[in-house]
Amino acid sequence: MQAITTLIALLALAHSALAGVYITSPVAGTVATGGQVLNVSWADDGNTPTVASVGPCTVDLYTGSMTQQTKLQNLAASVDVSKTSSISATIDPTVGQSGNYYFVRFTSLGLKDATNSAYYYEAFSAKFTINSMTGTFSASVLAELAANSTTSSTTAASASKTSAVASASSSSKASGSVAAAAASTSKSAALPQLAAPGLLAALVGIAGWIAL
Ligand SMILES: *[C@@H]1O[C@H](CO)[C@@H](O)[C@H](O)[C@H]1NC(C)=O
Ligand SMILES: *[C@@H]1O[C@H](CO)[C@@H](O)[C@H](O)[C@H]1NC(C)=O
Repeated sequence: MQAITTLIALLALAHSALAGVYITSPVAGTVATGGQVLNVSWADDGNTPTVASVGPCTVDLYTGSMTQQTKLQNLAASVDVSKTSSISATIDPTVGQSGNYYFVRFTSLGLKDATNSAYYYEAFSAKFTINSMTGTFSASVLAELAANSTTSSTTAASASKTSAVASASSSSKASGSVAAAAASTSKSAALPQLAAPGLLAALVGIAGWIAL
């Protein structure tokens, strides 16, 4: 019963944090293959901003941590998320190495982030695995991945930890010690979104668990 309560609390939290584009594929359990097609699909989660206001987005394959992310490959240059709900792209196997290092990020081309107008709206998939990759990560990417100690809550089991990360995120982000590290990589925008990969992964895990 305690577990159920925790899950409901997490769902409520995630729901408020994941307004807009809800990425339904890839999910945390996805194992994609370099050189082969990656299907990316999404839905409107019913909260604001609506997918109509998010509008055209660039869809990119990323790696990195909560605070520092590196774009590896463009998957779609401009897709209106309100007019279609999936794209497919062939994963360039040279952009990285095999493993659980990857996520997909949607970045609106027009809608600004609700809490920080310096950034555009972003939506994240769960972190997922790509195998048969032939590339190697740069030193700056490896540093980002090593700084991942606070992002380990990408499993459904760590529901309480995910909540803790989400609620603590505004203070931890403010410290910004990692944020200065890699100047050549894009800085992520707002905090609710930073927590999103973990929350999404948790949600997907919960959904699978409930489906059982
Ligand atoms: C991607 O979607 C297409 C069309 O629905 C499907 O035929 C294909 O099997 C999917 N590929 C993967 C890797 O899921
Ligand atoms: C992130 O941290 C977790 C826990 O330390 C680890 O299992 C995972 O492999 C790390 N992810 C990356 C991409 O380094």
